[in-house]
Amino acid sequence: MAEIERYPTYSDLPPLAGLCKMKRAVTSQWSLNESVTRLKRIHYVLRRVHETFIARIPGEPIYELKTLYSHHAYLCAEQVTSIRNRVGEMREPPLGLDKVPDPALETTLDELSRCPDTAQFLTGVYTVVIPECIAACERLKTAAHPLADAPTVRISKLMAFELSELCKTGQECARCLRSEETASTLDTWQDHLLLHITSAGLVDGTEPIQTTPPPPRYPNHPMTFQHEPRRDDRFRDPYNAGVNPEAFLYDEQYEARDKTLMIYYKRLRELDVPEVMATILIDLRDEEPWEFHMEMTRQLWDEARHAMMGEVGFASQEIDWTEIPINFTWSKNLNTQLNPRERHGVLFFIEQGLMPKTGKRYEWEVATDSGDPLAKLFQDFDWADEVLHAQIGRRWYVPRYKSLKEAMDYGDESWSRVLSNWQEYKDRGLTEHHNWWPDLYSKVCLQRGIAPDPQVLAFNETYQQKRADLETL
Ligand SMILES: [Fe+2]
Ligand SMILES: [Fe+2]
Repeated sequence: MAEIERYPTYSDLPPLAGLCKMKRAVTSQWSLNESVTRLKRIHYVLRRVHETFIARIPGEPIYELKTLYSHHAYLCAEQVTSIRNRVGEMREPPLGLDKVPDPALETTLDELSRCPDTAQFLTGVYTVVIPECIAACERLKTAAHPLADAPTVRISKLMAFELSELCKTGQECARCLRSEETASTLDTWQDHLLLHITSAGLVDGTEPIQTTPPPPRYPNHPMTFQHEPRRDDRFRDPYNAGVNPEAFLYDEQYEARDKTLMIYYKRLRELDVPEVMATILIDLRDEEPWEFHMEMTRQLWDEARHAMMGEVGFASQEIDWTEIPINFTWSKNLNTQLNPRERHGVLFFIEQGLMPKTGKRYEWEVATDSGDPLAKLFQDFDWADEVLHAQIGRRWYVPRYKSLKEAMDYGDESWSRVLSNWQEYKDRGLTEHHNWWPDLYSKVCLQRGIAPDPQVLAFNETYQQKRADLETL
């Protein structure tokens, strides 16, 4: 072995393109089979975690968690995709990536996806399941042959890196929602899940199985998922459709500077898009291939980012967004009145409609003219994201129909069947459809040190007769 230790290279340059020392490279305790087996197990867990995050988006009322799940679902989807690509390089199809690799892993993930309580879910996913995935990636990184299996080593490193970052934020969230009263219940739950993972021989199956797991807590529960969106208490008056921001935005008499407020409102309101997309993904789970789920998850995450850009926009103007009624009836009505194909149709129809001159370009022009550099920056990226979303729609939605026109008509027609329930929500006392614009506008004027323009202050158009694309109802 002494020669291997002092393996000579030209001018003592690092050997083997920097992958490892010669001593490590000559070891042979690794196989393609082992690599594929471990990757498939990590794949299964992350695929299930991805689905679990997505499923919780509509029903999770807390804004910070709704957006966090959107982010983390996307990050898990990226890892899932890189594993699938790698397995595809090592094996001929069928790759068997949809098979459950181990019933004990399945039970663990069932328990996690079924647990109804938020603090429990956060504890389970961020202190047990994802840390165990990271540990499996770390072991794979070290165990895989650094030269022969270099592509696997590379993705293991990247996965461990990205998942560690995700885990850090997640654990912080778990800590924030932990109280003295719940602490011991959460600890017991954490142990419970750990015992289940251990009984599977850990995520990668590398640990000898010695334990019998405790009986599952949620053997007959469905996955935690609901179509009906929920919002936390800071969303005041969420049925309020008393202001039609598009009507203001497209009215030439108003100034760009004031229009950016409506743009920020529209961005923040986009929180309803992840709520709709989540139900499309869950309802169509096995009807669509992974690539569909991957691309739609990216889009879902973009929409959550757009909502946060709205939040940031208001923060930059020192406006407390919780004082503005952020409407959620679009996602509520779509999720409860349409099937997933129809919801996808509406989504496509709306996004395709954003592409012509009057859509994203117009918003960008308004933002550019407004003198608010943040609005310009956000609309620049919002526009770029929408171009991507229109492409995703063309790839995954349009081919189901005979032509683009038929695909558009299906979306338009589905949307027109959605009852906005404008009057009903008012009659049931859920909202007064109060016109919140004068309050917001006055507050901004006060901050700008200017007197409100009476004409602007008087804006009073609702969604009663017109929908967001200004089509008459
Ligand atoms: Fe968007
Ligand atoms: Fe979009």
